[in-house]
Amino acid sequence: MLTDKRVLLIISGGIAAYKSLDLVRRLRQSGCTVTAIMTSGAQQFITPLAVGALTATPVYTELFDREAEQDVGHIRLARDHDMIVVAPATADLMAKMCHGLADDLATAVLLASDIPILVAPAMNPKMWSNPATQRNVACLKEDGKFLIGPNSGEMAESGESGVGRMAEPFEIADAIESHLAETTPTVVDPLPVGPLSGRHILITSGPTHEPIDPVRYIANRSSGKQGHAIAAAAVAAGARVTLISGPVEQPDPIGASVIHVQTAAEMLSAVSSALPADVAIMAAAVADWRVASQDSNKIKKDANGAPPALSFVENPDILASIGNHPDQRPALVVGFAAETQNLLENARGKLQRKGADWILANDVSPETGIMGGDTNTIRLLSAEKVEDWPSLSKDDVARRLIDKIAATLA
Ligand code: CTP
Repeated sequence: MLTDKRVLLIISGGIAAYKSLDLVRRLRQSGCTVTAIMTSGAQQFITPLAVGALTATPVYTELFDREAEQDVGHIRLARDHDMIVVAPATADLMAKMCHGLADDLATAVLLASDIPILVAPAMNPKMWSNPATQRNVACLKEDGKFLIGPNSGEMAESGESGVGRMAEPFEIADAIESHLAETTPTVVDPLPVGPLSGRHILITSGPTHEPIDPVRYIANRSSGKQGHAIAAAAVAAGARVTLISGPVEQPDPIGASVIHVQTAAEMLSAVSSALPADVAIMAAAVADWRVASQDSNKIKKDANGAPPALSFVENPDILASIGNHPDQRPALVVGFAAETQNLLENARGKLQRKGADWILANDVSPETGIMGGDTNTIRLLSAEKVEDWPSLSKDDVARRLIDKIAATLA
């Protein structure tokens, strides 16, 4: 709950602005006061009237507003809240934030604030993957801003697919809740300093969902606990972390940049866009197959009782494409091998085939309780040797792996 919390929502100009109405509704439902600032671009997509009707507070649009500025209103707005949320954040607004521009009310408030700032980017996938935007993302993180999303999926305006969709309002509301629970109102948590400071670690986690038709999909039992624990341990060790997550119940690890995806194809596209990285840890249980042609309508039962004949095609192997990447292979590539038989032999095959440096092999037979459970028993294979780890909690496996990575890169 966000009872008595005060959020300043900055809405900038993108089609995702319409989702910020739902965000306001959710925040108010959880007891939060919301004040909104809209850029002139935002007003091309939604009106201040609609936003104000939902916030039930005045909506601010002008830097030099005679009434609001009698008491230097933009400075007050920057201070009188527990958190600033920029949703959607356009590429342009993020660039301005990086460079400290203050040529309208939104940017002036952002520059004058010393409270936590959560940024939810939304833009075309090409704009997101452009090195200029990626430099700005890194700069915002270095300045202590928190980022959520963007997610992978179809763009509302162009129908293109890729990474750039604004995080969903419920995800942003969850992130606000966890930040406000963890941060004191006036201090921005800087990224922790540790043995992996200055390193970029790319992690995949969770299952993928492969649609059969609009209501059905193929999934697996991965919970994402191990991959998410690794992401949290890497953040704690000072790394800049990009976590590409399939659909999971786990909360986004604080301090990691999380991209939510559904399918293996989306996961591969998000992983490729996140390169370069110093280390890749592919912990996701990627579905090996997807149906050859997804039905656009719900498949109906046959009158004769014959089940539908589904045919499958193989999904891209994300670990193999990173491990064998022609020009952007991370210095260290780590994969998992989930096996129910011939653990070492199968894991060794994966180490070679997928071009990995290490494989963390585990027996996921139902009786081990590893899939979905809280513990993991790892055998770490490299070209030279096999290391047997004791049975550990998934958090301890994560810390041990991150310590080993830090020692290897040192
Ligand atoms: N992996 C991947 N992309 C895939 C399949 C697997 O990146 N399409 C990665 C996993 O994240 C893991 C490693 O490859 O790090 C091994 O995954 P696993 O499911 O054990 O192996 P598979 O390649 O699926 O082989 P098999 O189904 O024959 O066990």
